[in-house]
Amino acid sequence: MESEKTIVVLVILISSVLVVAEGAAGNGLSGCSFPAIYNFGDSNSDTGAFSAAIYPQQPPYGETFFRKPTGRASDGRLLIDFIAKELRLPYLNAYLDSLGTNFQYGANFAVGAGTIRRQNDTQPNGPYICPFYLGVQTTHFANFKARVIDLYKQGKDVNRIPISGDFSKALYTIDIGQNDVARSMFGLSTDEIPDMINQFSTAIKELYNKGARIFWVHNSGPNGCLPSNKLFANRTMDSFDKIGCNNRWNEAVSAFNAQLKERLTKLRADLPQAAITYVDIYAAKYKLISNANKFGFTNPLKQCLHKEKRNRTVVDVSCPNPSKFISWDGVHYTEAANQWLAKAILNGSFSDPPLPITQACHRQAPM
Ligand SMILES: *[C@@H]1O[C@H](CO)[C@@H](O)[C@H](O)[C@H]1NC(C)=O
Ligand SMILES: *[C@@H]1O[C@H](CO)[C@@H](O)[C@H](O)[C@H]1NC(C)=O
Ligand SMILES: *[C@@H]1O[C@H](CO)[C@@H](O)[C@H](O)[C@H]1NC(C)=O
Repeated sequence: MESEKTIVVLVILISSVLVVAEGAAGNGLSGCSFPAIYNFGDSNSDTGAFSAAIYPQQPPYGETFFRKPTGRASDGRLLIDFIAKELRLPYLNAYLDSLGTNFQYGANFAVGAGTIRRQNDTQPNGPYICPFYLGVQTTHFANFKARVIDLYKQGKDVNRIPISGDFSKALYTIDIGQNDVARSMFGLSTDEIPDMINQFSTAIKELYNKGARIFWVHNSGPNGCLPSNKLFANRTMDSFDKIGCNNRWNEAVSAFNAQLKERLTKLRADLPQAAITYVDIYAAKYKLISNANKFGFTNPLKQCLHKEKRNRTVVDVSCPNPSKFISWDGVHYTEAANQWLAKAILNGSFSDPPLPITQACHRQAPM
């Protein structure tokens, strides 16, 4: 018993030393203490909204970690879950999910199939129009904040609303645009990217006007490497890079990312109190896919999930070893891939400015 206690104490000591070391990161900046995370985005970071509001998710989604569907488009956790874990906060509940949810440490406004711009048609995201585009998500946040302030005044519902009512200290994470760029590959033109960027920028300004100060913004991943997009490849028009990704699709995302990065630089000057981090998710995902074997994954351009006919109905069936796959369902990443990505990005090695997420509250002078 005694030795067990000693081990427990030692583990606690070692982990607190690690936290301090991490906070320092050798650059003299202190670690930040985020009381909450507010997230905006699409299925890359939806933790239950699409499933609650549009169509309930079915097994085998969630099988690896939660052991049941939670609305996350994966077999387990998403990058946003690993971000919450890194900041020692609970996993985020979806704002649109009404039962059993708790918003003491933040809320998730992301919705699967979500776009920056309002959708007028259903292509190519299947039979559902997702009405929760970014402008609606920021409106949801404004409603949320107003309700929280009102509930504090009344002393009501205190076990569900943010422990810190100080919205300026929270981390605001945004991961959206992948669906806008994908949609622009069908009929619409990549000439529409500047409008996407304008609306992205408007959303950040709206959040800033509501008190948000610390932003962690993901760019968009390499759509051209998604297994599902092989379906849309046009052999007469398309070329593929050395690892088999569609150049036209990846060039469109890269154009979006370049304009986003440039706009964030401008926003750092326009929003005097904002700390804005741009995270190159594209580079991190491309590194993983192009070095899959080295990092313990096989078949980087194949997906784990496949369709099988069972008793005349077609069902989704998982592969025996999801942790060997990067792609879960052709569009979304496996828990194992998300965990790898989290480890790669959270220390700041894909960020501008290059600070770990634990130091993202520090505002950098405009370049
Ligand atoms: C593929 O590209 C060619 C050349 O631009 C075009 O004529 C054809 O319609 C395209 N096919 C599809 C299925 O988009
Ligand atoms: C097919 O239906 C039969 C009869 O309802 C059932 O016993 C069987 O388990 C089903 N098979 C699968 C693969 O679901
Ligand atoms: C960040 O973590 C990754 C993965 O563990 C590592 O390869 C990289 O060197 C680290 N970068 C920094 C700046 O610490």
